Amino acid sequence: RIFNNLKEGSLFIANEIAAVIRQKQAEGKKCVLGLATGSSPKTVYAELVRLHKTEGLSFSNVVTFNLDEYYPIDQDALQSYNRYMREHLFNHVDIKPENIHIPNGELPKEEIKKHCADYEAMIEEAGGIDVQILGIGNNGHIGFNEPGSSRFSKTRMITLDNSTRIANSFEFPNISEVPRLAVTMGIDTILKARKIYLMAWGPMKAPVVQKAVEELVTEQIPASLLQQHNDTVYVLDEMAASEL
Ligand code: GLP
Repeated sequence: RIFNNLKEGSLFIANEIAAVIRQKQAEGKKCVLGLATGSSPKTVYAELVRLHKTEGLSFSNVVTFNLDEYYPIDQDALQSYNRYMREHLFNHVDIKPENIHIPNGELPKEEIKKHCADYEAMIEEAGGIDVQILGIGNNGHIGFNEPGSSRFSKTRMITLDNSTRIANSFEFPNISEVPRLAVTMGIDTILKARKIYLMAWGPMKAPVVQKAVEELVTEQIPASLLQQHNDTVYVLDEMAASEL
């Protein structure tokens, strides 16, 4: 779906999410959302908050699983995705704290393997992800699944590409402060979601969007693996779609 601008595309995604939340509420069921961070989804979250404050959209039946987190990082650090989610969404809606799940960047290294396995198990126990939203890295990463990530990868610790550390360095005092590791849901974890929206805005994303959508499926462009999913929508503005 190609929209005139980021705002229109973001409102489309927020309304799709709100519709699923309301439908599940009417059925007396939980709604399980897979959430992304970065600059791309900020307006989606702002619109969900607006729908909560002005149109009574309740998050009381919503369970969330975030895609990824830097490692190591304090939850209160300015750059932590845990903090990002509180600031952009969770502090402003009626979600139950026990329904929020974000990979924990504070755990000692020896506990990460179990943490990742538990994370996968919690997603399954919740009934799987109903709606997953994604951004896309300039190198085609989704979550922090860097090029070369296996189609069958699960939640795990990963080494960040240098290009990702450079792309994200504006959030940190300097490049050497950008963590070298992250914990991310795997490609397989993402592909198990029933519905996926990948959003990309602006001209910088145009080349990678073109590769991911129109070229062959390859683990070298992790977002291209979404071609193997049966209900994925790329939500783009005119500029991100300009090389299609
Ligand atoms: C980050 C995140 C991804 C995000 C991507 C794009 O490194 N780990 O989940 O989708 O890079 O970020 P942005 O939306 O700021 O362009």
